[in-house]
Amino acid sequence: MNRQAARARAPGKLILAGEHAVVYGHPALAIAVDRGTTVTLRRSRGPTRLGRCAVRDPRLLPGLLTVLPEDGLEVDIDSDLPVGRGMGSSAALAVAVVRAHAALQDEVLDFATTHARAFGPERHFHGDPSGVDHAVSALGGGVRYMRTPTGPRIAPVSLPQLELVVVDSGSAGNTAQLVAGVRARRRQVAPILDRIGLLVEELTGSLGRGASRTEIGGLLTENHRLLCDIGVSTPTLDAIVDACLAAGAHGAKLAGAGGGGVVLALVSDAAPVLAAVAAAGWPAFRVGVAPVEG
Ligand code: PMV
Repeated sequence: MNRQAARARAPGKLILAGEHAVVYGHPALAIAVDRGTTVTLRRSRGPTRLGRCAVRDPRLLPGLLTVLPEDGLEVDIDSDLPVGRGMGSSAALAVAVVRAHAALQDEVLDFATTHARAFGPERHFHGDPSGVDHAVSALGGGVRYMRTPTGPRIAPVSLPQLELVVVDSGSAGNTAQLVAGVRARRRQVAPILDRIGLLVEELTGSLGRGASRTEIGGLLTENHRLLCDIGVSTPTLDAIVDACLAAGAHGAKLAGAGGGGVVLALVSDAAPVLAAVAAAGWPAFRVGVAPVEG
């Protein structure tokens, strides 16, 4: 049966470790978060168009049309993810629209098909993304992601209870530009990218054996310092990391492409970290891990 309307939701994400290095075949570790994007599709006459949608970005409709028909749909988008902050708003949108379109046609999608299709909008928004963002959005939970010449290698990672705070730097980074900048410096930064790859393996091991928050946090902060060394942090992001650590966080790092966006902090007690960054004028909130799909 072909339905008149369908709705689907997908979570955003945070990269715990490995951003940028993942573009060059190193692993990354990411979590789906308990915020996300809902897409509602309704059959309508005329060209496919946007209906209710808080964000007016000229790239939005062309991106959606990489997976939707040119005609016959109205698209509503509802999201509680900050846009352009490294929390996977475009990936959540890509996965939600792929799922909603499948649901409209009573098509059942497996993970591999969802991931392959959601590359359409993601490529439109980001150029040549590694695919980690929409892999974790489609899978939920914790995910280890590695790009290989024969396709992505994606594995669920079981996580201990993680108490996380996200701090918004107040500005957006441009992922495509930041990735291009690292590519231009690739020869100089290759040893740092290698170290980030090893750090992801260490972090995966630490999470798996239930290591202390101090150990896990130390790896997050080290990842931040390495991201500084490849030139994708900003003075504001560094100041937020320092403020989180001074307020008792076990570790903190920029999350995503950098150049702006958010910092994630691992804490035992969120209250002093939230208070410290709020006093400095940075909005912050707690996030949880979204459940594994299906
Ligand atoms: O979309 P963002 O800002 O979370 O960045 C994605 C992570 C990068 O490694 C910088 C790019 C990619 O394609 O993996």
